[in-house]
Amino acid sequence: MIVCSCERISDKDIHAAINWMRAADDATIITPGKIYHALGKTPSCGGCMKLFVASMRSNSNLEVPAGLRGLRGTKSKRSVSDEGRSQSYRVSEQSVAG
Ligand code: FES
Repeated sequence: MIVCSCERISDKDIHAAINWMRAADDATIITPGKIYHALGKTPSCGGCMKLFVASMRSNSNLEVPAGLRGLRGTKSKRSVSDEGRSQSYRVSEQSVAG
């Protein structure tokens, strides 16, 4: 079935590209842009994106690699406010006496 009529990309092309990318790198995040690029094409009108993404999602190799899941909810060891600095550089946060 043709998914992208502008570039004549079929659902089989999409699945082949996903399977190829996953076989080449099991940690890659696969996006529609990467699939277009792998197929040597560029999206034109974008009218196919909903169907394009639906075709992508039907492929079992699309899932996000296990090591990259759940990163949004994790907290880093550092405080957000210190930005990695050992002490503040702001005058308002430094003691005036020193
Ligand atoms: S139908 Fe896919 S870019 Fe136009």
